[in-house]
Amino acid sequence: MAKPWFDHREVAAAAAVVESGWVSQGARVTEFEQVVAALVGAAHGVAVSNCTTALHLGMIGAGVGAGDDVVVPSLSFVATANAPRYVGARPVFADVDPATHNVTAETIERALTPRTTAVIVVDQYGTPADIEPIRALAAERGLAVVEDAACAIGSTYLGAPVGARSEIATFSFHPRKILVTGEGGMVTLQDGDLAARMRRLRQHGMSVSTFDRHTSTDTVIEQYLETGFNYRLTDIQAAIGLVQADKLPAMIARRRELAARYQRLLADIPGLETVADPAYGTTNFQTFWVMLPDTFPVPRDEVLTALKQRGVNSRHGVTCAHEEPAFADLEPVSLPVSERITRRSVLLPLYHDLSEHDQDRVVEALADVARRPTGRRPSAHGGPA
Ligand SMILES: Cc1ncc(COP(=O)(O)O)c(C=O)c1O
Repeated sequence: MAKPWFDHREVAAAAAVVESGWVSQGARVTEFEQVVAALVGAAHGVAVSNCTTALHLGMIGAGVGAGDDVVVPSLSFVATANAPRYVGARPVFADVDPATHNVTAETIERALTPRTTAVIVVDQYGTPADIEPIRALAAERGLAVVEDAACAIGSTYLGAPVGARSEIATFSFHPRKILVTGEGGMVTLQDGDLAARMRRLRQHGMSVSTFDRHTSTDTVIEQYLETGFNYRLTDIQAAIGLVQADKLPAMIARRRELAARYQRLLADIPGLETVADPAYGTTNFQTFWVMLPDTFPVPRDEVLTALKQRGVNSRHGVTCAHEEPAFADLEPVSLPVSERITRRSVLLPLYHDLSEHDQDRVVEALADVARRPTGRRPSAHGGPA
């Protein structure tokens, strides 16, 4: 399904850090922050342990607190909906656009409550959300916007990198993403004071970083200014991330090539929708999804099994948080577009060194399932349905 593109360069970079003896929150982390901030077009980067912790800091940075409502897409990895809860707030679910699978200003507006103080906008699977109208709505209503760009490094929106327009954006470097550090995350920001606060918060609220204390000629006695966390990234991860950042343009170019090939080869399957660039931007194709039409002869979960039986790993699309037991305490909500997408989507293998031969096998396996006669199932009373 997914595989990082690693070679001897990441191995050498990680080994050099180990040999240096400084393995956590040191010079490589600072360098990685600068490189990612520049890539994203943000003024500052704050490296953290993963995108979930980045979202937690994002909620704090956005001033979200107990009793607040935060509008989030239900159709996202569950970390998005969990983030408001880390600060005592309530997630309120918005539906998504059927073409991009992202929230829009209209779907967010429908979900606003008198207690809404912030919105988390996800660039689902790397497809940029149409964030300008959302920012305009948020400005009108005095809401903070946090962009959960976990999957979207290197995607573009209105000609600029995703994240460039956001006060706070968060990224993931998990192996399922494109730029991979093992585990890892980054908050990118425009405001230097907020970035400094987040750097303290990731390190227990300490007034001075370990690296600055170490390199100071004076004895420095730190203070703990507010309740913080251990959300540090290691230099081993950052060193790998620096090599990966260097490779990012090549990785995205290859994914876009493979995605175009998938789009072309799958065009013959009647009614099948495939992920594509929106009119206002480009996706990095972190994931290649297809949506099965209602007329597809085989139910979605059986498609996954049929592909597996042919040696092809595929996955069901992202689930809806509002249908998960963890959110059963919230008011029931109906989100027809999200619910349809979660039931009809299939994610196909896509990674840097996926060969065209293997890609052909994926396409043939899916085309084969599409040609099956529509299944007849016994009805409840035993006769044909
Ligand atoms: C939209 C979204 N947000 C947040 C996360 C969490 O990222 P991490 O695994 O780095 O904590 C993910 C991971 O898949 C994601 O897809």
